Amino acid sequence: MKLWGGRFTKQTDQLTEDFNASIAFDSRLFRHDIQGSIAHASMLARQGIITSAERDLIISGLEEIKLELEAGKLEFTVEAEDVHMNIETLLTAKIGDLGKKLHTARSRNDQVALDVRLYLRDEIKEVRELILAIEEALLKLAQEHLDTIMPGYTHLQKAQPITLAHHLMAYFEMFRRDMGRLDDCQKRLVAMPLGSGALAATGFPLDREYVREQLDFREITRNSLDGVSDRDFAIEFCSFASLLMMHLSRFSEELILWSTEEFSFINFDDAFSTGSSIMPQKKNPDIAELVRGKTGRVYGDLITLLTLMKSLPLAYNKDMQEDKEALFDAVDTVKKCLLVFTPMLVSSKFNKNQMAQSARGSFTNATDLADYLVVKGLPFRDAHEVVGKAVLYCIDNNRALEELDLKKFQQFSELIDFDVYQCLDIRECVARRKIPGGPAPEAVQNALKEAGEWTERMKDGTSK
Ligand code: ARG
Repeated sequence: MKLWGGRFTKQTDQLTEDFNASIAFDSRLFRHDIQGSIAHASMLARQGIITSAERDLIISGLEEIKLELEAGKLEFTVEAEDVHMNIETLLTAKIGDLGKKLHTARSRNDQVALDVRLYLRDEIKEVRELILAIEEALLKLAQEHLDTIMPGYTHLQKAQPITLAHHLMAYFEMFRRDMGRLDDCQKRLVAMPLGSGALAATGFPLDREYVREQLDFREITRNSLDGVSDRDFAIEFCSFASLLMMHLSRFSEELILWSTEEFSFINFDDAFSTGSSIMPQKKNPDIAELVRGKTGRVYGDLITLLTLMKSLPLAYNKDMQEDKEALFDAVDTVKKCLLVFTPMLVSSKFNKNQMAQSARGSFTNATDLADYLVVKGLPFRDAHEVVGKAVLYCIDNNRALEELDLKKFQQFSELIDFDVYQCLDIRECVARRKIPGGPAPEAVQNALKEAGEWTERMKDGTSK
């Protein structure tokens, strides 16, 4: 017998029942559903809508159901359609007809709006911890690699020397912004929708403020139509998640490149690599590749939600049941990726010599030679031309700039003197880029200090 069966004369078609049911995926909301129901029942009693004895029976019944579900002692049915009606059915089976009073002055529409908010609020706390963990790992790695010289790239062509610490801290900044977006999403998750009813609130004198307080929300939703039909918060989460995954994907791509024999900048630990079923020699970066690949599915989740909502008239429409799988998938994927990415990164071995060697090639110090000439009085555009000619000469003669003798240098410009060799030294090239935001160990050390303080503040932050 359906909970809504009164006005029906026929049984539901089996295909309809299967198609309509969401229990296969919304069952994961059971704790939050019970949490919301307990708050609702206490409020009903406070307002004299049910008696306090009834309230106590309902609440202890719900608490028992929660424990039994956690212990795997109870089963949900497709017949009861979704998590809300399954729990109501279980409650009525446990405490009798009194269970039927729980749904007074409530609709599944405001109930599900509440449950998803409660769920996401808890998940955001976990995702936040995982972002903090990767930030702390980056801080530690960067501290160890303040002096590890590597080539910096533009167009994936070697450009100028930087340090590994500086490169890693670029990702720190990306994840810092992601954290800001996550906290921002959390900021708009603070409104409690119960009391919106199906769409037009209710004539019962509910105390919404009391429920808000019980469930630790900051405010109540201000419009019942909006209260049941807002899914912006889920979209905001998926949007945050998409950007985070984009950053993880770029990072993965770099690590994959760096682990090739051609780069040889890093070795992944065996524990975070996989082999080939046919080629015995292979060690593959599957973890980083999967993180890169899973980025696509999180973008998919975002597009699913945006498309789902774009033409829905107010207020609730059953289309909205489809929000859950996309949101759950984004949450699960982001958590899994962060969880495995951080130890994979931390356990990687960075090949310092190879990185420094690579930074020395390809005229990465050419800009420094031009700047040297500028300091000696040449306009930058002319200096650029002079150095371009010197580079061309070196390419033709298979030499590095610093391998030219002073006489040769002076054929390109009279302004060049013995101090040019110090100017061209790769460590000097990095060390002089010490303005804020630069790659010099001195500048990165300052950046690390600020970043460490930020991380500590974030760890203290309640983010509610
Ligand atoms: N399972 C539904 C969902 O997730 C709950 C709300 C159902 N409301 C309704 N009017 N049929 O959206």
